[in-house]
Amino acid sequence: MTPNTSLFERLGGTAGIATVVDRTLERSANDPRTRRSFAGIKLAAIKTSLAQQLCALSGGGCVYEGETMARSHQDARIQASEFDVLVQILREELDRAGVSAGAKNELLRLLAPMKRDIVSTAAASDTPSSAALPAASQDRTP
Ligand code: HEM
Repeated sequence: MTPNTSLFERLGGTAGIATVVDRTLERSANDPRTRRSFAGIKLAAIKTSLAQQLCALSGGGCVYEGETMARSHQDARIQASEFDVLVQILREELDRAGVSAGAKNELLRLLAPMKRDIVSTAAASDTPSSAALPAASQDRTP
Protein backbone atom coordinates (compact mmCIF):
# COMPACT_ATOMS: atom_id res chain seq x y z
CA MET A 1 0.00 0.00 0.00
CA THR A 2 1.24 3.45 -0.85
CA PRO A 3 -1.10 5.90 0.86
CA ASN A 4 0.65 9.03 -0.37
CA THR A 5 0.77 8.23 -4.05
CA SER A 6 -0.20 11.35 -6.01
CA LEU A 7 -3.20 11.39 -8.29
CA PHE A 8 -0.76 11.92 -11.17
CA GLU A 9 0.91 8.58 -10.39
CA ARG A 10 -2.44 6.83 -9.95
CA LEU A 11 -3.43 8.05 -13.41
CA GLY A 12 -0.37 6.28 -14.79
CA GLY A 13 1.97 9.26 -14.90
CA THR A 14 2.95 10.96 -18.15
CA ALA A 15 2.49 7.83 -20.26
CA GLY A 16 -0.85 6.87 -18.72
CA ILE A 17 -2.27 10.36 -19.12
CA ALA A 18 -1.01 10.58 -22.72
CA THR A 19 -2.77 7.32 -23.60
CA VAL A 20 -6.07 8.35 -22.01
CA VAL A 21 -5.94 11.83 -23.59
CA ASP A 22 -5.10 10.44 -27.04
CA ARG A 23 -7.94 7.95 -27.01
CA THR A 24 -10.44 10.37 -25.51
CA LEU A 25 -9.75 13.07 -28.07
CA GLU A 26 -9.62 10.67 -31.03
CA ARG A 27 -13.01 9.29 -30.04
CA SER A 28 -14.50 12.73 -29.32
CA ALA A 29 -13.31 14.05 -32.67
CA ASN A 30 -15.00 11.13 -34.45
CA ASP A 31 -18.13 10.63 -32.35
CA PRO A 32 -21.20 12.02 -34.17
CA ARG A 33 -22.37 13.55 -30.88
CA THR A 34 -19.24 15.69 -30.39
CA ARG A 35 -17.25 15.80 -33.63
CA ARG A 36 -18.64 19.07 -35.02
CA SER A 37 -16.52 21.14 -32.60
CA PHE A 38 -13.33 19.46 -33.77
CA ALA A 39 -13.80 20.12 -37.49
CA GLY A 40 -10.68 21.81 -38.83
CA ILE A 41 -8.91 21.64 -35.45
CA LYS A 42 -5.44 20.12 -35.09
CA LEU A 43 -5.93 17.33 -32.56
CA ALA A 44 -2.21 17.02 -31.81
CA ALA A 45 -2.10 20.48 -30.23
CA ILE A 46 -5.13 19.85 -28.01
CA LYS A 47 -3.72 16.47 -26.98
CA THR A 48 -0.46 18.05 -25.80
CA SER A 49 -2.27 20.85 -24.03
CA LEU A 50 -4.88 18.64 -22.31
CA ALA A 51 -2.19 16.20 -21.15
CA GLN A 52 -0.25 19.12 -19.68
CA GLN A 53 -3.38 20.42 -17.97
CA LEU A 54 -4.19 17.01 -16.44
CA CYS A 55 -0.58 16.63 -15.28
CA ALA A 56 -0.73 20.05 -13.63
CA LEU A 57 -4.13 19.35 -12.01
CA SER A 58 -3.13 15.96 -10.65
CA GLY A 59 0.11 17.06 -9.01
CA GLY A 60 2.51 15.89 -11.71
CA GLY A 61 4.49 19.10 -11.55
CA CYS A 62 3.57 20.41 -15.00
CA VAL A 63 2.60 24.02 -15.61
CA TYR A 64 -0.45 24.46 -17.83
CA GLU A 65 0.44 26.99 -20.51
CA GLY A 66 -2.70 26.90 -22.63
CA GLU A 67 -5.65 29.25 -22.89
CA THR A 68 -8.36 29.53 -20.25
CA MET A 69 -11.22 27.04 -20.62
CA ALA A 70 -13.66 29.86 -21.39
CA ARG A 71 -11.52 31.28 -24.17
CA SER A 72 -10.52 28.02 -25.79
CA HIS A 73 -14.11 26.77 -26.00
CA GLN A 74 -16.21 29.88 -26.60
CA ASP A 75 -16.12 29.71 -30.42
CA ALA A 76 -17.42 26.13 -30.45
CA ARG A 77 -20.52 27.08 -28.43
CA ILE A 78 -20.42 23.73 -26.67
CA GLN A 79 -23.68 22.38 -25.27
CA ALA A 80 -24.07 20.59 -21.94
CA SER A 81 -24.95 17.35 -23.77
CA GLU A 82 -21.68 17.53 -25.72
CA PHE A 83 -19.73 18.14 -22.53
CA ASP A 84 -21.40 15.14 -20.90
CA VAL A 85 -20.55 12.87 -23.84
CA LEU A 86 -16.87 13.87 -23.75
CA VAL A 87 -16.73 13.24 -20.00
CA GLN A 88 -18.40 9.84 -20.48
CA ILE A 89 -15.80 8.94 -23.11
CA LEU A 90 -13.07 10.07 -20.72
CA ARG A 91 -14.56 7.85 -18.00
CA GLU A 92 -14.54 4.85 -20.31
CA GLU A 93 -10.95 5.48 -21.34
CA LEU A 94 -9.80 5.85 -17.73
CA ASP A 95 -11.42 2.46 -17.04
CA ARG A 96 -9.85 0.92 -20.12
CA ALA A 97 -6.42 2.19 -19.02
CA GLY A 98 -6.88 0.46 -15.67
CA VAL A 99 -7.17 3.63 -13.58
CA SER A 100 -8.87 2.91 -10.24
CA ALA A 101 -12.39 4.14 -9.53
CA GLY A 102 -11.00 6.36 -6.77
CA ALA A 103 -8.46 8.07 -9.01
CA LYS A 104 -11.01 8.40 -11.80
CA ASN A 105 -13.54 10.10 -9.54
CA GLU A 106 -10.88 12.36 -8.07
CA LEU A 107 -9.94 13.56 -11.55
CA LEU A 108 -13.58 14.02 -12.58
CA ARG A 109 -14.19 16.10 -9.45
CA LEU A 110 -11.32 18.38 -10.48
CA LEU A 111 -12.74 18.77 -13.99
CA ALA A 112 -16.39 19.28 -13.00
CA PRO A 113 -16.09 23.00 -12.12
CA MET A 114 -14.78 23.67 -15.65
CA LYS A 115 -18.18 22.81 -17.09
CA ARG A 116 -19.51 26.31 -16.50
CA ASP A 117 -16.62 27.80 -18.46
CA ILE A 118 -16.72 25.29 -21.31
CA VAL A 119 -20.47 25.06 -21.94
CA SER A 120 -22.18 28.02 -23.62
CA THR A 121 -25.23 29.51 -21.97
CA ALA A 122 -28.55 28.36 -23.40
CA ALA A 123 -29.78 31.94 -23.55
CA ALA A 124 -26.93 32.88 -25.88
CA SER A 125 -27.44 30.00 -28.31
CA ASP A 126 -29.06 32.09 -31.04
CA THR A 127 -26.87 35.16 -30.68
CA PRO A 128 -23.33 34.27 -31.77
CA SER A 129 -22.07 37.78 -31.00
CA SER A 130 -22.70 37.23 -27.31
CA ALA A 131 -20.14 34.44 -27.02
CA ALA A 132 -18.27 36.45 -24.40
CA LEU A 133 -21.16 36.45 -21.91
CA PRO A 134 -19.92 35.71 -18.41
CA ALA A 135 -20.08 31.95 -18.04
CA ALA A 136 -20.37 32.29 -14.27
CA SER A 137 -24.02 33.22 -14.65
CA GLN A 138 -24.81 29.58 -15.40
CA ASP A 139 -25.95 27.12 -12.83
CA ARG A 140 -26.19 23.70 -14.40
CA THR A 141 -26.71 20.55 -12.42
CA PRO A 142 -23.72 18.21 -12.83
C1 HEM B 1 -13.66 18.72 -18.81
C2 HEM B 1 -13.79 18.88 -20.11
C3 HEM B 1 -12.75 19.55 -21.00
C4 HEM B 1 -11.45 19.89 -20.74
C5 HEM B 1 -10.66 19.70 -19.47
C6 HEM B 1 -10.93 20.49 -21.96
C7 HEM B 1 -9.64 20.95 -22.12
C8 HEM B 1 -9.16 21.57 -23.24
C9 HEM B 1 -7.83 22.12 -23.39
C10 HEM B 1 -6.75 22.09 -22.32
C11 HEM B 1 -7.75 22.67 -24.61
C12 HEM B 1 -6.53 23.38 -25.21
C13 HEM B 1 -6.50 24.84 -24.86
C14 HEM B 1 -5.20 25.50 -25.29
O1 HEM B 1 -4.24 24.81 -25.59
O2 HEM B 1 -5.11 26.74 -25.30
C15 HEM B 1 -9.02 22.45 -25.26
C16 HEM B 1 -9.33 22.86 -26.54
C17 HEM B 1 -10.44 22.45 -27.23
N1 HEM B 1 -11.50 21.74 -26.72
FE1 HEM B 1 -11.72 21.14 -24.83
N2 HEM B 1 -11.92 20.49 -22.90
C18 HEM B 1 -13.03 19.92 -22.36
C19 HEM B 1 -14.25 19.75 -22.99
C20 HEM B 1 -14.47 19.90 -24.33
C21 HEM B 1 -15.68 19.52 -25.04
C22 HEM B 1 -16.93 18.96 -24.37
C23 HEM B 1 -15.48 19.81 -26.35
C24 HEM B 1 -16.40 19.60 -27.54
C25 HEM B 1 -17.36 18.72 -27.56
C26 HEM B 1 -14.15 20.38 -26.48
C27 HEM B 1 -13.59 20.82 -27.64
C28 HEM B 1 -12.39 21.50 -27.74
C29 HEM B 1 -11.88 22.09 -28.97
C30 HEM B 1 -12.56 22.04 -30.33
C31 HEM B 1 -10.66 22.71 -28.64
C32 HEM B 1 -9.72 23.46 -29.59
C33 HEM B 1 -10.07 24.94 -29.60
C34 HEM B 1 -9.20 25.67 -30.60
O3 HEM B 1 -8.01 25.33 -30.75
O4 HEM B 1 -9.71 26.60 -31.24
N3 HEM B 1 -13.57 20.42 -25.23
N4 HEM B 1 -9.85 21.79 -24.41
